[in-house]
Amino acid sequence: MLTKTSTVGGAVIDKPETRAKAPLKPAVDNQSKTASAPARDLTIYLDGKFVPEADAKVSVFDHGLLYGDGIFEGIRFYNGRVFRLEEHLERLWDSARSICLEIPMGRGEMTEALLETIRRNDLREGYIRLIVTRGVGNLGLNPVQCKRPSVIIIATTIALYSKEVCEKGLTVVTCATRRTGAAALNPAVKSLNYLNNVMARIEANLAGADEALMLNEAGNVAECTADNVFIIKHGRIFTPPIAAGALRGITRSVAFDIAAELGIKITETDITRHDVFVADECFLTGTAAEVIPVVKADGRTIGSGKPGSITTRMIARFREMTRATGTPIFE
Ligand SMILES: Cc1ncc(COP(=O)(O)O)c(C=O)c1O
Repeated sequence: MLTKTSTVGGAVIDKPETRAKAPLKPAVDNQSKTASAPARDLTIYLDGKFVPEADAKVSVFDHGLLYGDGIFEGIRFYNGRVFRLEEHLERLWDSARSICLEIPMGRGEMTEALLETIRRNDLREGYIRLIVTRGVGNLGLNPVQCKRPSVIIIATTIALYSKEVCEKGLTVVTCATRRTGAAALNPAVKSLNYLNNVMARIEANLAGADEALMLNEAGNVAECTADNVFIIKHGRIFTPPIAAGALRGITRSVAFDIAAELGIKITETDITRHDVFVADECFLTGTAAEVIPVVKADGRTIGSGKPGSITTRMIARFREMTRATGTPIFE
């Protein structure tokens, strides 16, 4: 059974749904974990086995932990269907290829493991975290020591922002931490090495903002800490190109599809902070955040200060698509 998420204040991440059907209080970002921790018994997929959360453990010698050496995907499922599963798996395999990591199973097997993890947790709506670590090695960073990557699948629920924030829109600040350059660690790889994004997130927290706008080394907008950025000016949508340091977001590509459907021109182009300040509308896309309006950037009100009409239409169509399309879980 699904428990309605009630959220308090700003960004929240709720606790996983329990099979015991206990009503869950979402954990608020700035509270200690124990403050609202419910009893729960998630079933986790770990290297071919389904295990209780308490037994889902990996070695301290796993290079995913020691070096952030691994890859992941965040995937949502709605109304008993996994949204854009093929695209997520393709990106996972691309990330793996890029870092010379061999995923120890085929895509068909991965799909079945993922669907079965959701089924075993009795969920119809939620969020999957799919992780492939380099596996157990020694304390040296050389991955040749790691003989077998580990695959972990967690199916749970998540709500990044309260209903109020979703309706009113987010505030963002530009952070000093630049998005990692492609020559250092290409942001197109969805790796377990997220310290760059975490540092930006800390800056947003310290500034009291909901998100951080990350610039690339050229000073153009790359993306937010876990979302792609879109602005709207004179009825047209603009977003930074992948080469600006943006992840090739799956929700980003859904935004392109929706814009085409609605007959709104969408252009990939370099965007400056100034462009954001003078935009008529701004929104972010991400699997966890979904499609969410931004109404303030570095203290400047964007447009009317309220979610604009194009953003609102994008959100409405996105919701329809998530409910009506995807890979069925229970059929
Ligand atoms: C750095 C970064 N940018 C953008 C996104 C949005 O991508 P997607 O829509 O595929 O979730 C994410 C989340 O996966 C992310 O981690």
